[in-house]
Amino acid sequence: MTSSPGLTQRRTMTDLADVSYSRYPDETIPVFARWFGSWQVSVERRALSVPELTRRYDQAAPGWNHTLDRLGFPDAYEAMLRRVLHEEGSDTPGLDGRVLDCGVGTGVLSRALARVSPTPFELDAIDISPRMLERAGHGLRAAGVDVALRQGDVCALPYGDNAFDLVMTAHVLEHVVDPRVALTEMVRVLKPGGLFIASTTRRSVLGMMIHLKWHTHRLTAHAAERLLHDSGLRNVRCLSFDDSPVCRRLSVPCIGRKAL
Ligand SMILES: C[S@@+](CC[C@H](N)C(=O)[O-])C[C@H]1O[C@@H](n2cnc3c(N)ncnc32)[C@H](O)[C@@H]1O
Repeated sequence: MTSSPGLTQRRTMTDLADVSYSRYPDETIPVFARWFGSWQVSVERRALSVPELTRRYDQAAPGWNHTLDRLGFPDAYEAMLRRVLHEEGSDTPGLDGRVLDCGVGTGVLSRALARVSPTPFELDAIDISPRMLERAGHGLRAAGVDVALRQGDVCALPYGDNAFDLVMTAHVLEHVVDPRVALTEMVRVLKPGGLFIASTTRRSVLGMMIHLKWHTHRLTAHAAERLLHDSGLRNVRCLSFDDSPVCRRLSVPCIGRKAL
């Protein structure tokens, strides 16, 4: 708990994007902050370190596809991507170009893209968890997707500038202590005019359960939208997992384009 009336930029925590990250030690994430007169009460939580997250996701890998199936994410990702491709029209970059999936997990999002894409694409995928990557490799190759897998951190992507037509990430930004660092990297490797798609766990009762287990950021849709906008993306807008009540309550997808 802290009281510090001088920090006017942290008046409320209704919106993570209003928070001054510089005030937080490197390893903590903001959970709650409110002003009571001249008193500010705030709660921060230690984020899981990358080695600890790696260990936990390695452990979760064998059951990950089953968990996402139960929640309805394969269909929700597919419907969301179908809608994005429809709305962006023939102008959609990436469908016959290079795609990057950041924090690929077992590859559920990329497999959904393969189901809706009218043309094959060249996929790169990165994750910190070797066990997740193993499963992603099997599942994607079985689905006919040509994938190059790398173990690594989304905060230091091992790819060149302006390399990808489409960069996607699902439920990863909320794990990163400062999501702006990961976003800066993801936008760096995206080509000018390229499409960016991110799904994040939203601030909700279900999202609180994720936070309790994984120490994740609790982002509102508005905060996610602002983070994308502040990282240099344009035409940023949030969508909704309309066809799945669970996914809609749990997550929010947002899209944007890198400026030309
Ligand atoms: C909630 S899972 C989502 C997996 C997949 N995108 C999906 O939608 O099923 C988060 C994934 O991000 C990975 N991850 C977490 N932090 C990461 C980081 N800093 N760099 C790369 N991958 C990370 C985890 O290992 C895990 O596979």
